[in-house]
Amino acid sequence: MSPVLGLRGGGARGDAASTPPRHVAIIMDGNGRWAKARGLPRTFGHRAGINALKRTVEAAPDHGIEWLTVFGFSTENWRRPVSEVTELMKLMKAYVSSDLERLEREGVRVHIIGRRDDLAPDILEVIERAERRTRDNDRFHLQVAFNYGGRSDIAEAARRYALDVSNGQATLEIGEAEFERRLSTAKGPAPDLIIRTSGERRLSNFLLWEAAYAELVFQDVLWPDYGSGPLGEAVAEYQARERRYGGAEIDDVLATG
Ligand code: IPE
Ligand code: IPE
Ligand code: MG
Repeated sequence: MSPVLGLRGGGARGDAASTPPRHVAIIMDGNGRWAKARGLPRTFGHRAGINALKRTVEAAPDHGIEWLTVFGFSTENWRRPVSEVTELMKLMKAYVSSDLERLEREGVRVHIIGRRDDLAPDILEVIERAERRTRDNDRFHLQVAFNYGGRSDIAEAARRYALDVSNGQATLEIGEAEFERRLSTAKGPAPDLIIRTSGERRLSNFLLWEAAYAELVFQDVLWPDYGSGPLGEAVAEYQARERRYGGAEIDDVLATG
């Protein structure tokens, strides 16, 4: 956190090299290509992707990470064939329900962000149960972005803000902090590091507001092959960077006064 600039963030200005990223967010991409390379249907890639997610959640605390946000389904992923969407919904439900007991026991707090109005009642039930059962945990935070879009989240925050103004609970004197409190990610710090796997170099509507000062790392590994090794490499790359938040390079400041 930079007290000078008031940015929500884990790493301090100028010393990223000595501090692991407190909050890592991952665009888990490449399941389809992983399956295609093996002559398998795309759904096999998604199933293998769940195992990669389990490995990554398990490994994250060992890398000094406290918050992990993963992009599981975007507001644009409804454009895929119905059979694939159905499989992704089923996998989300199966992952949360099968791993809930372990996550609960291991002190993981689960947060699910994204639009809930288009989700089926059985998925909503699983999501709400996971959040309820883990709400007192604080050893590690797993935030799953599901039916999430950065633009939709910003629009929703604007709608909530307008509602608060019309109810007399907010004034028109809006600052960044008051707006940010209405985003679905407000419970946690801003991401220090955003990783995208599979070689694609874009955000695809992920954490648009929150990404303002995140370090971006793009890795060629396809998501089903992910785990502690590639995560460690991304963390090392992050730690070799200097975060400046618009300021000057720290050595130059010290040299020139
Ligand atoms: C990521 O893998 C999983 C989701 C987007 C749900 P993809 O399914 O996008 O895999 P590619 O990009 O087609 O290889
Ligand atoms: C982003 O990946 C969404 C998730 C990883 C859940 P996509 O595969 O949907 O993104 P594009 O279409 O390549 O931009
Ligand atoms: Mg993709």
